[in-house]
Amino acid sequence: MRSRLKVAVAKAGIDNTRADVLFNLAKVETWRRRHVPADCPTFADRVRMYEYLHGECIGDRALDYLEFGVYEGGSIRCWAELNRHRESRFVGFDTFTGLPEQWHRIDARMQAGAFDTGGAVPQIDDDRVAFVPGLFQDTLGGFVADFTPRAPLVVHCDADLYSSTLFVLSKCDDILAPGSIVVFDEFSSVLNEFAALADYCNAYRREYDVLAATAPYFAQVAIRLR
Ligand SMILES: C[S@@+](CC[C@H](N)C(=O)[O-])C[C@H]1O[C@@H](n2cnc3c(N)ncnc32)[C@H](O)[C@@H]1O
Repeated sequence: MRSRLKVAVAKAGIDNTRADVLFNLAKVETWRRRHVPADCPTFADRVRMYEYLHGECIGDRALDYLEFGVYEGGSIRCWAELNRHRESRFVGFDTFTGLPEQWHRIDARMQAGAFDTGGAVPQIDDDRVAFVPGLFQDTLGGFVADFTPRAPLVVHCDADLYSSTLFVLSKCDDILAPGSIVVFDEFSSVLNEFAALADYCNAYRREYDVLAATAPYFAQVAIRLR
């Protein structure tokens, strides 16, 4: 009987991403109640959040900064300007040919290939900054095998997609020591970065504290892993 009901519901149901987003948005509110302290610093834009994170958590120390989703280099440039320590390392990963698959959002669909720079990496006149072109799925395994963080680690997830973000967090798990900071650029994209963080934490038994967010309603979020 139960399986007949299941089949009937499956056949009558609506398989629609917009409906999925609408139903899942309430999860952000449940998450807020569980994870976000009442006095969580909240900023008008992401640059102010970066400045706060850098001032509070890094100060004048060296930093290891890994960015997943670089496009034209807006955010990696910003972090390299915030932290001037000679020993800091900034590594940006991207296909530089755009999103590998369509990004479903509630308000629009971003087609595969959006953010294509024609293979060009950003020109940043700073020898602490390096880029790793290619799919994370092809490049990150080899990188992580050779990389030992020497300084506080910041991982910036700005790849928009669930698949990419989940892959990055899972693959970086070994280097994400307690205290590492992870920044999400599209956090309230509930089927994507938000869902990837939840699934990563469930699968790898990780917990975290929320450090900061931006308005409106968790557009960007920074966490510190326990
Ligand atoms: C929103 S853009 C990054 C924006 C950038 N951080 C900024 O501040 O302007 C997202 C980027 O993620 C990249 N991306 C998404 N999934 C990827 C994957 N699996 N491998 C490599 N790059 C990926 C896309 O190519 C795209 O350039």
